[in-house]
Amino acid sequence: MKKKHIAIFASGSGSNAENISRFFANHPLAEVCLILTNKPDAAVVQRAQNLGIPCRIFNREEFYNSGAVLDDLKRFEVDFIVLAGFLWLIPSNLLVAYPKRIINIHPALLPKYGGKGMYGARVHQSVVENKEKESGITIHFVNEEYDAGDIIFQARCSVEAGDDADCLAQKVHELEYRHFPEVIASVVAKE
Ligand code: GAR
Repeated sequence: MKKKHIAIFASGSGSNAENISRFFANHPLAEVCLILTNKPDAAVVQRAQNLGIPCRIFNREEFYNSGAVLDDLKRFEVDFIVLAGFLWLIPSNLLVAYPKRIINIHPALLPKYGGKGMYGARVHQSVVENKEKESGITIHFVNEEYDAGDIIFQARCSVEAGDDADCLAQKVHELEYRHFPEVIASVVAKE
């Protein structure tokens, strides 16, 4: 059977993008065939190059007012889209083309600490400031709102007194590395 094709969108470091790509490098069900970013200077671009995975860079105009990104996805016969630290809202042409096939990871326990402007370090800063006892990760399907689609999976970690945002980010990243690839594989396997 033909392997499913996964495209990853990332705007930053891309450590999850790399972890997912390596997980699927010799996987029987799926492979990462394309990495896309809106940030030409993001570290994910170099990571894609090192992994030997094609990387596409697009701007706001191309993303929201043209079919350029969807054309790329079609050219690479992409079946699933994974958002790994990608910060723009997904336009309707992609939502329509990939129903229940776009998966995002959020670095907190949604519905808390989600929504526009809540990403990366800002999330962890808010969790620490509010003296939460726990945080974690949420993996969910993407819809037309930020961080609001159906939840697929959550995992928790404790927030200890004295933990700062950096320390919490590290705990959350560990959860992401451990769980995100497996959860993607389980979604792909159901198709
Ligand atoms: C991850 O922690 C991810 O959960 C978060 O950005 C980080 C990207 O790290 N995503 C969001 O905040 C989305 N709202 P990475 O570039 O090292 O994979």
